[in-house]
Amino acid sequence: MIVEPSLRMSLFTPSIFGKLKGAAELKKASGAPLVDLSLGSPDLPPDEKVRQALSEQSASANAYGYTLGGTERFYEAVANYYKRRVSVSLNPETEIVQTMGSQEGLVHLPLAFCDEGDVVLTTNPAYVAYDAGIKLAGAVPYELPLRAENGYLPDLEAIPEEVARKSKLLILNLPGNPVPALPNASFFEKVVAFAKKYNVIVLHDAAYSEYYFEGAGPTSFLSTPGAMEVGMEINSLSKSFSLAGARIAYIVGNSEMIDILKQLKSNLDYGTFGPIQEAAVVALNHAEEITDRLRQQFSERHSVLMEGLQAIGWTVTPSTGGMFVWAKYPYDMDDVPFAFEAIEQVGVVMVPGSVFGSEGAGYVRLALVQQVAEIQKAIEQLGKLKL
Ligand SMILES: Cc1ncc(COP(=O)(O)O)c(C=O)c1O
Repeated sequence: MIVEPSLRMSLFTPSIFGKLKGAAELKKASGAPLVDLSLGSPDLPPDEKVRQALSEQSASANAYGYTLGGTERFYEAVANYYKRRVSVSLNPETEIVQTMGSQEGLVHLPLAFCDEGDVVLTTNPAYVAYDAGIKLAGAVPYELPLRAENGYLPDLEAIPEEVARKSKLLILNLPGNPVPALPNASFFEKVVAFAKKYNVIVLHDAAYSEYYFEGAGPTSFLSTPGAMEVGMEINSLSKSFSLAGARIAYIVGNSEMIDILKQLKSNLDYGTFGPIQEAAVVALNHAEEITDRLRQQFSERHSVLMEGLQAIGWTVTPSTGGMFVWAKYPYDMDDVPFAFEAIEQVGVVMVPGSVFGSEGAGYVRLALVQQVAEIQKAIEQLGKLKL
Protein backbone atom coordinates (compact mmCIF):
# COMPACT_ATOMS: atom_id res chain seq x y z
CA MET A 1 0.00 0.00 0.00
CA ILE A 2 1.22 3.53 -0.73
CA VAL A 3 0.85 5.75 2.31
CA GLU A 4 0.70 9.42 1.38
CA PRO A 5 0.32 12.23 3.93
CA SER A 6 -2.24 14.91 3.12
CA LEU A 7 -0.98 18.12 1.52
CA ARG A 8 -1.85 19.77 4.83
CA MET A 9 0.85 17.73 6.56
CA SER A 10 3.51 19.79 4.78
CA LEU A 11 2.51 22.61 7.14
CA PHE A 12 3.71 20.60 10.12
CA THR A 13 7.47 20.22 10.09
CA PRO A 14 9.22 17.73 12.42
CA SER A 15 10.21 19.37 15.70
CA ILE A 16 13.86 19.90 16.64
CA PHE A 17 13.20 18.60 20.17
CA GLY A 18 13.59 14.98 19.03
CA LYS A 19 17.00 15.75 17.51
CA LEU A 20 18.17 17.58 20.63
CA LYS A 21 17.03 14.62 22.73
CA GLY A 22 18.91 12.20 20.45
CA ALA A 23 22.14 14.22 20.75
CA ALA A 24 21.71 14.48 24.54
CA GLU A 25 21.17 10.73 24.89
CA LEU A 26 24.28 10.03 22.86
CA LYS A 27 26.32 12.34 25.09
CA LYS A 28 24.91 10.74 28.24
CA ALA A 29 25.61 7.24 26.96
CA SER A 30 29.28 8.22 26.63
CA GLY A 31 29.30 8.68 30.43
CA ALA A 32 29.78 12.47 30.23
CA PRO A 33 27.80 14.74 32.61
CA LEU A 34 24.68 16.24 31.09
CA VAL A 35 22.45 19.12 32.25
CA ASP A 36 19.19 19.33 30.34
CA LEU A 37 17.69 22.82 30.30
CA SER A 38 15.65 22.29 27.14
CA LEU A 39 12.03 21.36 27.89
CA GLY A 40 9.75 23.57 29.97
CA SER A 41 8.35 20.64 31.93
CA PRO A 42 8.45 21.38 35.68
CA ASP A 43 10.83 19.11 37.62
CA LEU A 44 9.08 19.70 40.97
CA PRO A 45 6.50 17.06 41.90
CA PRO A 46 2.87 18.09 42.27
CA ASP A 47 1.85 18.90 45.84
CA GLU A 48 1.16 15.84 47.96
CA LYS A 49 -2.50 16.80 48.52
CA VAL A 50 -2.98 16.91 44.76
CA ARG A 51 -1.41 13.48 44.21
CA GLN A 52 -3.43 12.10 47.11
CA ALA A 53 -6.69 13.37 45.57
CA LEU A 54 -5.83 11.80 42.22
CA SER A 55 -4.96 8.49 43.80
CA GLU A 56 -8.08 8.36 46.00
CA GLN A 57 -10.42 9.42 43.23
CA SER A 58 -9.01 7.03 40.69
CA ALA A 59 -9.54 4.13 43.13
CA SER A 60 -13.30 4.68 42.86
CA ALA A 61 -15.13 2.30 40.53
CA ASN A 62 -17.42 5.13 39.40
CA ALA A 63 -14.68 7.45 38.20
CA TYR A 64 -14.21 6.10 34.70
CA GLY A 65 -17.09 7.46 32.64
CA TYR A 66 -16.96 10.30 30.12
CA THR A 67 -16.99 13.67 31.83
CA LEU A 68 -18.08 15.48 28.63
CA GLY A 69 -15.98 18.52 29.61
CA GLY A 70 -15.32 20.43 32.80
CA THR A 71 -17.22 19.34 35.90
CA GLU A 72 -19.21 21.85 37.94
CA ARG A 73 -16.64 21.49 40.73
CA PHE A 74 -13.76 22.23 38.35
CA TYR A 75 -15.43 25.33 36.92
CA GLU A 76 -16.30 26.57 40.45
CA ALA A 77 -12.65 26.09 41.48
CA VAL A 78 -11.38 28.03 38.43
CA ALA A 79 -13.83 30.89 39.14
CA ASN A 80 -12.78 30.93 42.77
CA TYR A 81 -9.08 30.92 41.84
CA TYR A 82 -9.56 33.87 39.44
CA LYS A 83 -11.50 35.80 42.10
CA ARG A 84 -8.83 35.23 44.76
CA ARG A 85 -5.69 35.61 42.66
CA VAL A 86 -6.54 38.32 40.13
CA SER A 87 -9.88 39.80 41.32
CA VAL A 88 -11.71 38.71 38.16
CA SER A 89 -15.31 37.51 38.55
CA LEU A 90 -16.27 34.67 36.21
CA ASN A 91 -19.56 32.90 35.71
CA PRO A 92 -18.59 29.22 36.06
CA GLU A 93 -21.37 28.12 33.67
CA THR A 94 -20.80 30.52 30.81
CA GLU A 95 -17.34 32.01 31.01
CA ILE A 96 -15.08 28.95 31.37
CA VAL A 97 -14.33 26.01 29.08
CA GLN A 98 -11.97 23.20 29.93
CA THR A 99 -9.24 22.01 27.55
CA MET A 100 -7.07 18.90 27.64
CA GLY A 101 -3.90 20.89 28.32
CA SER A 102 -3.49 24.35 26.84
CA GLN A 103 -1.67 23.00 23.78
CA GLU A 104 -4.91 21.32 22.71
CA GLY A 105 -6.86 24.53 23.30
CA LEU A 106 -4.32 26.67 21.45
CA VAL A 107 -4.12 24.44 18.40
CA HIS A 108 -7.89 24.12 18.06
CA LEU A 109 -9.00 27.65 18.99
CA PRO A 110 -8.32 29.32 15.61
CA LEU A 111 -10.69 26.77 14.00
CA ALA A 112 -13.51 28.33 16.00
CA PHE A 113 -12.85 31.94 14.98
CA CYS A 114 -10.86 32.09 11.75
CA ASP A 115 -11.74 31.39 8.14
CA GLU A 116 -9.28 30.66 5.30
CA GLY A 117 -7.07 33.67 4.74
CA ASP A 118 -7.97 35.55 7.94
CA VAL A 119 -4.97 37.21 9.55
CA VAL A 120 -3.86 36.15 13.04
CA LEU A 121 -1.48 38.50 14.84
CA THR A 122 1.17 36.61 16.72
CA THR A 123 4.66 37.40 17.98
CA ASN A 124 8.14 36.54 16.71
CA PRO A 125 9.52 34.71 18.63
CA ALA A 126 6.50 32.82 19.96
CA TYR A 127 5.53 29.48 21.44
CA VAL A 128 5.32 27.07 18.50
CA ALA A 129 1.76 25.80 19.05
CA TYR A 130 0.26 29.12 17.92
CA ASP A 131 1.57 28.66 14.42
CA ALA A 132 0.28 25.08 14.25
CA GLY A 133 -3.23 26.24 15.18
CA ILE A 134 -3.20 29.17 12.76
CA LYS A 135 -2.10 26.93 9.87
CA LEU A 136 -4.62 24.22 10.75
CA ALA A 137 -7.40 26.79 10.42
CA GLY A 138 -6.04 27.99 7.05
CA ALA A 139 -5.43 31.42 8.55
CA VAL A 140 -2.34 33.53 7.91
CA PRO A 141 0.04 34.59 10.67
CA TYR A 142 1.32 38.18 10.82
CA GLU A 143 4.28 38.30 13.16
CA LEU A 144 4.94 41.15 15.56
CA PRO A 145 8.65 41.24 16.48
CA LEU A 146 9.62 41.21 20.15
CA ARG A 147 12.57 43.57 20.51
CA ALA A 148 14.59 45.06 23.33
CA GLU A 149 13.63 48.66 22.45
CA ASN A 150 9.96 47.85 23.22
CA GLY A 151 10.69 45.89 26.39
CA TYR A 152 10.06 42.69 24.37
CA LEU A 153 6.37 43.59 24.05
CA PRO A 154 4.78 43.72 20.59
CA ASP A 155 4.39 47.21 19.15
CA LEU A 156 0.71 47.42 18.18
CA GLU A 157 1.17 50.86 16.63
CA ALA A 158 3.60 49.40 14.07
CA ILE A 159 0.90 47.12 12.61
CA PRO A 160 -0.06 48.46 9.15
CA GLU A 161 -3.65 49.70 9.00
CA GLU A 162 -4.68 47.21 6.27
CA VAL A 163 -3.26 44.29 8.30
CA ALA A 164 -5.06 45.42 11.45
CA ARG A 165 -8.34 45.63 9.49
CA LYS A 166 -7.96 42.08 8.15
CA SER A 167 -7.01 40.62 11.54
CA LYS A 168 -9.36 38.29 13.33
CA LEU A 169 -7.30 37.18 16.31
CA LEU A 170 -4.35 38.46 18.37
CA ILE A 171 -2.37 35.93 20.43
CA LEU A 172 -0.25 37.18 23.33
CA ASN A 173 1.78 35.35 25.98
CA LEU A 174 3.04 37.10 29.13
CA PRO A 175 5.13 36.00 31.04
CA GLY A 176 6.36 34.74 27.74
CA ASN A 177 7.93 31.69 26.23
CA PRO A 178 10.65 31.90 25.00
CA VAL A 179 11.21 35.60 25.82
CA PRO A 180 10.21 36.01 29.47
CA ALA A 181 8.65 39.48 28.99
CA LEU A 182 6.11 40.28 31.70
CA PRO A 183 2.52 41.50 31.54
CA ASN A 184 1.66 45.02 32.63
CA ALA A 185 -1.61 46.90 32.98
CA SER A 186 -0.80 49.75 30.60
CA PHE A 187 0.18 47.40 27.77
CA PHE A 188 -3.02 45.41 28.28
CA GLU A 189 -5.02 48.67 28.11
CA LYS A 190 -3.51 49.35 24.69
CA VAL A 191 -4.42 45.81 23.63
CA VAL A 192 -8.08 46.33 24.61
CA ALA A 193 -8.22 49.65 22.72
CA PHE A 194 -6.65 48.04 19.63
CA ALA A 195 -9.04 45.06 19.81
CA LYS A 196 -12.07 47.34 20.03
CA LYS A 197 -10.90 49.61 17.21
CA TYR A 198 -10.26 46.76 14.76
CA ASN A 199 -12.72 44.15 16.07
CA VAL A 200 -9.93 41.67 16.84
CA ILE A 201 -10.45 38.82 19.31
CA VAL A 202 -7.65 38.64 21.90
CA LEU A 203 -6.31 35.38 23.30
CA HIS A 204 -3.85 35.80 26.15
CA ASP A 205 -1.84 32.68 26.99
CA ALA A 206 -1.19 32.88 30.74
CA ALA A 207 0.51 29.49 31.12
CA TYR A 208 3.26 31.08 33.27
CA SER A 209 1.04 33.46 35.25
CA GLU A 210 2.30 32.20 38.61
CA TYR A 211 5.96 32.60 37.61
CA TYR A 212 6.59 36.15 38.83
CA PHE A 213 9.50 36.85 41.15
CA GLU A 214 8.66 40.44 42.08
CA GLY A 215 5.42 42.29 42.73
CA ALA A 216 2.25 41.47 44.60
CA GLY A 217 0.71 38.75 42.46
CA PRO A 218 -0.12 37.43 39.01
CA THR A 219 -1.54 39.74 36.32
CA SER A 220 -4.53 38.66 34.27
CA PHE A 221 -5.46 40.19 30.93
CA LEU A 222 -9.10 39.90 32.04
CA SER A 223 -8.59 42.35 34.90
CA THR A 224 -8.04 45.12 32.30
CA PRO A 225 -11.18 47.27 31.88
CA GLY A 226 -13.02 46.12 28.73
CA ALA A 227 -11.03 42.88 28.34
CA MET A 228 -14.07 40.64 28.91
CA GLU A 229 -15.70 42.26 25.86
CA VAL A 230 -12.81 41.49 23.53
CA GLY A 231 -11.11 38.34 24.64
CA MET A 232 -10.12 35.32 26.56
CA GLU A 233 -7.28 33.97 28.64
CA ILE A 234 -6.00 30.40 28.42
CA ASN A 235 -4.35 29.02 31.52
CA SER A 236 -2.97 25.65 32.43
CA LEU A 237 -2.25 23.55 35.48
CA SER A 238 0.87 22.15 33.77
CA LYS A 239 3.38 24.77 34.85
CA SER A 240 1.97 26.39 38.00
CA PHE A 241 0.96 23.11 39.62
CA SER A 242 3.48 20.69 38.04
CA LEU A 243 0.66 18.77 36.35
CA ALA A 244 2.08 18.79 32.80
CA GLY A 245 1.40 15.08 32.24
CA ALA A 246 -2.17 15.31 33.54
CA ARG A 247 -3.30 17.46 30.55
CA ILE A 248 -5.67 19.89 32.17
CA ALA A 249 -6.20 23.56 31.33
CA TYR A 250 -9.01 26.03 30.68
CA ILE A 251 -10.02 29.09 28.69
CA VAL A 252 -11.88 31.90 30.46
CA GLY A 253 -13.43 35.12 29.21
CA ASN A 254 -16.13 36.49 26.93
CA SER A 255 -19.23 34.28 27.17
CA GLU A 256 -20.08 34.36 23.44
CA MET A 257 -16.55 33.24 22.59
CA ILE A 258 -16.60 30.54 25.26
CA ASP A 259 -19.95 29.30 23.93
CA ILE A 260 -18.46 28.92 20.43
CA LEU A 261 -15.49 27.03 21.88
CA LYS A 262 -17.78 24.72 23.87
CA GLN A 263 -19.57 23.85 20.64
CA LEU A 264 -16.26 23.04 18.95
CA LYS A 265 -14.99 21.06 21.95
CA SER A 266 -18.14 18.95 22.15
CA ASN A 267 -17.22 17.64 18.69
CA LEU A 268 -13.56 17.00 19.51
CA ASP A 269 -13.42 15.09 22.78
CA TYR A 270 -15.38 13.85 25.79
CA GLY A 271 -13.55 15.71 28.53
CA THR A 272 -10.67 15.12 30.93
CA PHE A 273 -10.61 12.10 33.26
CA GLY A 274 -12.75 12.91 36.36
CA PRO A 275 -10.05 12.16 38.98
CA ILE A 276 -7.67 14.56 37.20
CA GLN A 277 -10.35 17.24 37.44
CA GLU A 278 -10.71 16.54 41.16
CA ALA A 279 -6.93 16.76 41.65
CA ALA A 280 -7.01 20.08 39.75
CA VAL A 281 -9.74 21.35 42.13
CA VAL A 282 -7.44 20.62 45.09
CA ALA A 283 -4.52 22.35 43.33
CA LEU A 284 -6.54 25.48 42.49
CA ASN A 285 -8.00 25.65 46.01
CA HIS A 286 -4.46 25.61 47.48
CA ALA A 287 -2.87 27.80 44.81
CA GLU A 288 -1.33 30.38 47.15
CA GLU A 289 0.58 27.85 49.22
CA ILE A 290 1.63 25.69 46.24
CA THR A 291 2.78 28.54 44.02
CA ASP A 292 4.60 30.37 46.85
CA ARG A 293 6.85 27.31 47.18
CA LEU A 294 7.31 27.18 43.42
CA ARG A 295 8.26 30.87 43.24
CA GLN A 296 10.84 30.52 46.01
CA GLN A 297 12.64 27.79 44.08
CA PHE A 298 12.32 29.23 40.59
CA SER A 299 13.26 32.73 41.68
CA GLU A 300 16.53 31.42 43.12
CA ARG A 301 17.25 29.36 39.99
CA HIS A 302 16.46 32.39 37.86
CA SER A 303 18.95 34.66 39.68
CA VAL A 304 21.66 31.98 39.70
CA LEU A 305 21.32 31.34 35.95
CA MET A 306 21.05 35.03 34.94
CA GLU A 307 24.05 36.08 37.03
CA GLY A 308 26.09 33.01 36.10
CA LEU A 309 25.61 33.52 32.36
CA GLN A 310 26.42 37.22 32.62
CA ALA A 311 29.61 36.34 34.51
CA ILE A 312 30.80 34.20 31.57
CA GLY A 313 30.09 36.98 29.06
CA TRP A 314 26.59 36.10 27.85
CA THR A 315 23.93 38.79 27.32
CA VAL A 316 20.78 37.89 29.19
CA THR A 317 17.38 39.45 28.43
CA PRO A 318 16.33 41.21 31.66
CA SER A 319 13.30 39.71 33.36
CA THR A 320 11.81 39.11 36.78
CA GLY A 321 9.56 36.20 35.88
CA GLY A 322 8.81 33.28 33.60
CA MET A 323 10.18 29.78 33.41
CA PHE A 324 13.01 30.57 31.01
CA VAL A 325 16.14 32.58 30.51
CA TRP A 326 16.58 34.02 27.01
CA ALA A 327 20.20 34.66 26.27
CA LYS A 328 22.62 35.68 23.53
CA TYR A 329 25.83 33.68 23.56
CA PRO A 330 29.13 35.45 22.85
CA TYR A 331 30.12 33.43 19.77
CA ASP A 332 29.70 34.15 16.08
CA MET A 333 27.75 31.03 15.25
CA ASP A 334 24.15 30.22 14.21
CA ASP A 335 21.98 29.12 17.10
CA VAL A 336 21.08 25.63 15.79
CA PRO A 337 24.69 24.43 15.31
CA PHE A 338 25.58 26.24 18.54
CA ALA A 339 23.00 24.25 20.55
CA PHE A 340 24.33 20.94 19.17
CA GLU A 341 27.93 22.05 19.78
CA ALA A 342 27.06 22.85 23.41
CA ILE A 343 25.67 19.33 23.89
CA GLU A 344 28.66 17.76 22.16
CA GLN A 345 31.40 19.80 23.87
CA VAL A 346 30.07 20.43 27.38
CA GLY A 347 26.84 18.43 27.83
CA VAL A 348 24.41 21.34 28.28
CA VAL A 349 21.07 21.05 26.46
CA MET A 350 19.36 24.32 25.41
CA VAL A 351 16.84 25.19 22.69
CA PRO A 352 18.06 27.27 19.72
CA GLY A 353 16.17 30.57 19.59
CA SER A 354 15.29 30.41 15.89
CA VAL A 355 12.97 27.45 16.63
CA PHE A 356 10.57 30.12 17.94
CA GLY A 357 10.90 32.47 14.97
CA SER A 358 13.46 34.39 12.94
CA GLU A 359 13.89 37.04 15.69
CA GLY A 360 15.30 34.27 17.89
CA ALA A 361 18.38 33.78 15.70
CA GLY A 362 21.55 34.07 17.78
CA TYR A 363 19.73 33.31 21.04
CA VAL A 364 19.12 30.20 23.11
CA ARG A 365 16.35 29.41 25.57
CA LEU A 366 17.30 27.84 28.90
CA ALA A 367 14.52 26.36 31.05
CA LEU A 368 14.82 26.67 34.83
CA VAL A 369 13.91 23.03 35.32
CA GLN A 370 16.92 21.80 37.31
CA GLN A 371 18.02 22.29 40.91
CA VAL A 372 20.45 25.15 41.66
CA ALA A 373 23.47 22.80 41.89
CA GLU A 374 22.75 21.50 38.36
CA ILE A 375 22.29 25.05 37.04
CA GLN A 376 25.67 25.98 38.55
CA LYS A 377 27.17 22.93 36.85
CA ALA A 378 25.67 24.05 33.53
CA ILE A 379 27.22 27.52 33.88
CA GLU A 380 30.60 26.02 34.74
CA GLN A 381 30.36 23.74 31.69
CA LEU A 382 29.24 26.55 29.36
CA GLY A 383 32.24 28.56 30.54
CA LYS A 384 34.46 25.82 29.06
CA LEU A 385 33.06 26.11 25.50
CA LYS A 386 35.74 26.60 22.87
CA LEU A 387 34.36 28.12 19.68
C1 LIG B 1 3.42 29.52 26.39
C2 LIG B 1 2.93 28.13 26.51
N1 LIG B 1 1.61 27.91 26.36
C3 LIG B 1 1.12 26.66 26.43
C4 LIG B 1 1.94 25.58 26.66
C5 LIG B 1 1.33 24.21 26.67
O1 LIG B 1 1.22 23.71 27.94
P1 LIG B 1 0.16 22.59 28.31
O2 LIG B 1 -0.38 22.03 27.04
O3 LIG B 1 0.92 21.58 29.08
O4 LIG B 1 -0.90 23.28 29.12
C6 LIG B 1 3.29 25.74 26.81
C7 LIG B 1 4.18 24.59 27.03
O5 LIG B 1 5.38 24.66 27.05
C8 LIG B 1 3.81 27.07 26.73
O6 LIG B 1 5.10 27.31 26.87
